[in-house]
Amino acid sequence: MGTRGRTEPFDILISEKAIQERIVALGAEIDRDLKDGDLVVVGVLKGSFVFMADLIRAIKRPVSCDFIRVASYDHDHSTGVVRLEFDLTQPIADKSVLLIEDIVDTGRTLRFLLKYLQAKRPARIRVASLLYKEINPEVRGFIDYCGFTVPDKYVVGYGLDSEGLYRSLPHIGCRAEER
Ligand code: IMP
Repeated sequence: MGTRGRTEPFDILISEKAIQERIVALGAEIDRDLKDGDLVVVGVLKGSFVFMADLIRAIKRPVSCDFIRVASYDHDHSTGVVRLEFDLTQPIADKSVLLIEDIVDTGRTLRFLLKYLQAKRPARIRVASLLYKEINPEVRGFIDYCGFTVPDKYVVGYGLDSEGLYRSLPHIGCRAEER
């Protein structure tokens, strides 16, 4: 199947090449900043798993990996409610935590997770998000390592879904009519 067939009905907003180049830069920055101690990389399921897989390979220092899952969206619309569905499998007390998000939109998920994880007494928490939606500038400060800023559009691909589909696209796309 050609690329065009796989992307319909989406236009490419951020190319595969641009994503991969940005991730190499983010990995180098994280290596510089988080040199010492144990580093636990925590992926927020499901959307972050593709980004996390590439980012941990761009980070050259040893890391351990864990996952956490929250539910906050219902059929692409925010319900405003965030609840924990799946918790970490290891203690993070006194360790450095790198929380991996696919996209920060309203910031509700991130605020919930930061509060929840802080209660576990890690040495520090840093946040890496592939995308940040520019309509909510008050949450930008929570992101230490940001891949790209995107406009206020529903985006898919590279881990992000629409009703469970399109996570496997190698780029970020948005609906043609939304561009
Ligand atoms: P927030 O709590 O509003 O910041 O939303 C965070 C979560 O909503 C993300 O981790 C995504 O799973 C989902 N989300 C928000 N915007 C989009 C989008 O444009 N495409 C796909 N998922 C999105």
